[in-house]
Amino acid sequence: MYNKVILLLLYLNLHSYGNRLIAWKYTENLTDCYERHVAMGNNASATVAAAGGPSITVVGADEGYVMSGGSVGYAMEAAKILYSFAFELTDDHEVLLPERRLREALPQYYQAFVSFAEQIRKEFGAKVNKNG
Ligand SMILES: *[C@@H]1O[C@H](CO)[C@@H](O)[C@H](O)[C@H]1NC(C)=O
Ligand SMILES: *[C@@H]1O[C@H](CO)[C@@H](O)[C@H](O)[C@H]1NC(C)=O
Repeated sequence: MYNKVILLLLYLNLHSYGNRLIAWKYTENLTDCYERHVAMGNNASATVAAAGGPSITVVGADEGYVMSGGSVGYAMEAAKILYSFAFELTDDHEVLLPERRLREALPQYYQAFVSFAEQIRKEFGAKVNKNG
């Protein structure tokens, strides 16, 4: 199935559980790139804060507990996507953000997506098609 995927570099899983960007580890061992992974989250967090958005806590794989069986770990281990985060929006711990809150909540996080895109372009530049 995955031999048809040309290049997937980022997987984000959006929930609503307290303004966190979590780079879970899916075994007790850290991946080789976990420091870059945390740096990517830190940049997204700083970019959102600089735009007046909420304070987002980055939880690196060296801090979090083992979370296997979820899509974030599947993205890294099975699909071999380099950067995979659980992105927990809002600070009211609802897990499932009600649809009526989306219009108000999502724009605050827009700069995080811009940050991810810019960092990936910077790291992989020539390998990423600028038109797609
Ligand atoms: C974690 O690393 C240790 C030491 O290299 C290794 O023995 C173990 O099999 C690894 N565990 C997993 C789940 O990959
Ligand atoms: C985030 O990364 C981009 C691209 O590498 C860089 O230009 C920018 O200065 C970084 N921002 C912060 C707040 O670290």
